[in-house]
Amino acid sequence: MYLITGGTGLIGSHLILELLKKGEQVRAIFRSEKSLDKVKNLFGYYSNEPAALFGKIDWVQADINDIVALEHAFNGITHVYHCAALISFDPKQYQHLKKSNVEGTKNMVNLCIKHKVKKLGYVSSIAALGSSTREEWITEETEWTNKNATVYGLTKHRAELQVWRGSQEGLPVFIVNPGVVLGPGFWKSGSGTFFYYAAKASSYALPGGTGFIAVHDVISCMVQLMDSTIKNERFILVDENALYLDIVQRIAKSMGVSLPVKTLGRGKIELFWRLDWIRSKFFGKKRRLSKNMAKSLFKREQYDNSKIKKSLALEFSGLDPTIEFCSKRFKEAFPKLF
Ligand SMILES: NC(=O)c1ccc[n+]([C@@H]2O[C@H](COP(=O)([O-])OP(=O)(O)OC[C@H]3O[C@@H](n4cnc5c(N)ncnc54)[C@H](OP(=O)(O)O)[C@@H]3O)[C@@H](O)[C@H]2O)c1
Repeated sequence: MYLITGGTGLIGSHLILELLKKGEQVRAIFRSEKSLDKVKNLFGYYSNEPAALFGKIDWVQADINDIVALEHAFNGITHVYHCAALISFDPKQYQHLKKSNVEGTKNMVNLCIKHKVKKLGYVSSIAALGSSTREEWITEETEWTNKNATVYGLTKHRAELQVWRGSQEGLPVFIVNPGVVLGPGFWKSGSGTFFYYAAKASSYALPGGTGFIAVHDVISCMVQLMDSTIKNERFILVDENALYLDIVQRIAKSMGVSLPVKTLGRGKIELFWRLDWIRSKFFGKKRRLSKNMAKSLFKREQYDNSKIKKSLALEFSGLDPTIEFCSKRFKEAFPKLF
């Protein structure tokens, strides 16, 4: 039986769906009933019988920092996909990030060892990789550096160290490092916000660029890695290295709204992160743009995806079919914006 953490998030819910379609037995942890609605809603995008599919999941209420509740969730589990994480780039959230991402992963690794789990698949991030240079793209071997790291990246890196520690103690593991994951349903976080932004039909987009991948490609790689004999390896999951401007233009085009044509200049970004800091410091607002995030916007990191392609002999499906699908669902969800 498979145990999935983060099953109420973008990646975890798509993973559950895939495993159910394969006829696997799935147990997933959840924290609140409200989050379960997001999963039901998502299943409705892909199935005519979402309630029947949803009913097949063995849900256990647990937080990854609650070892007693987690112990119940591990009964009879053979394979674990650990997808849960707190995603925030707000330096004020560092302690929360550390608790969920580092300590939570430590708990998961310890319980996998205790329950003699056959394999643990951990979803890390490209944020936990080092930086590229003009000459060299980022690979799985690029050395990690704390310099200019975001608080999120730092905690994902430390979570990976917990997973490697588990592998040293005999637990077979694999780690995936996805780029920005494009997928439907979770519009208020991650790549979902790109669809809001595109719908506003602003003339400006963020400068810089990063690695992107469709959610179905992430899931396909994770399932194949779990089913394979591959162990104790990490894999970059990036389909395209693209500019933010290019991605938002492609989303805007698929939504039929006017396209952004320019990127925000350095002066504006420098001003924004300082204003954001003031808003946060004096008015207690959540940080939306930290200094390190602002810095990263002027870099265009390039990720080498050859290891996963070679190891699984695959080609990715391309971002455009997913962008089309997401735009259609977004327009159905928010008709008043159009
Ligand atoms: N989305 C991306 O672009 C992207 C890119 C690279 C890597 N990743 C990684 O992929 C994984 C999944 O991301 P996602 O996009 O699916 O994120 P998401 O939609 O924000 O979902 C996060 C999930 O983690 C759960 N969670 C967070 N803290 C938890 C805790 N303390 N105990 C139990 N569950 C907890 C959330 O539960 P609630 O519903 O209760 O909040 C939710 O199910 C994460 O590890 C993330 O770092 C994501």
